[in-house]
Amino acid sequence: PAIAAVIPAAGVGQRMQADKPKQYLRLHGKTVLEHSVQPLLSLESVGQLYLALSADDPYFAATGLTDPRIIRVEGGAERVHSVLNALQHIDAVRYPWVLVHDAARPLVRRADIQLLIERCLAAGHGGILATPVRDTMKRGQQQVQHTVDRTDLWHALTPQFFPTALLTAAIGGALAAGVAVTDEASAMEWAQQSVLLVEGHSDNLKITRPADLQLAAFYLEQNR
Ligand code: CTP
Ligand code: MG
Repeated sequence: PAIAAVIPAAGVGQRMQADKPKQYLRLHGKTVLEHSVQPLLSLESVGQLYLALSADDPYFAATGLTDPRIIRVEGGAERVHSVLNALQHIDAVRYPWVLVHDAARPLVRRADIQLLIERCLAAGHGGILATPVRDTMKRGQQQVQHTVDRTDLWHALTPQFFPTALLTAAIGGALAAGVAVTDEASAMEWAQQSVLLVEGHSDNLKITRPADLQLAAFYLEQNR
């Protein structure tokens, strides 16, 4: 099927404490945003890529992103609002499936995106890239209450891949119900839709703090 992509890229990157939003910082020869977008655009099945940018974004025009499949839309107050606004622009009949991927995840592998798409289409429902938790997990405030069984705990990554109409309705419904929507899957869970876990790679990190950018540069230099 034809697939649309949504990239929320309207954040300010407060935790990064840089002079511009982190998606526009340079990493291994180009911007973080270009790294994040490129593997999606490399897929022929991706026919449109909606980029949610802040209304007064002065940086996008200077990137090398000129692919005609890119459509600029306005971001919102939080990530979920940026994603929802982009989703509402998509013709779900032409593009029945949508990939949502953070602008701040420049290391995602093309092969992992393909695996996510294949597994979800075979299952007939949506899913997410995720990695198993490796550390021993504790619950508690000041002191440990108990150790949490990690055998079924995962880190949720992006991309996340869902039927367009179901995801748009689920996010709208979850927001109206006051549910915290920190990723697309959380809205689908709220709507009682199945979400497949597809194992990705833990180097698909989200650039959040300065050290993450150094780590990302290191991975790229290793030419994984
Ligand atoms: N994002 C967005 N619109 C917002 C907030 C975030 O499109 N109102 C995007 C970011 O640009 C990023 C992704 O959502 O690609 C993940 O968000 P996060 O890592 O939290 O980025 P920021 O919000 O920019 O960073 P911070 O929370 O440190 O300010
Ligand atoms: Mg944020």
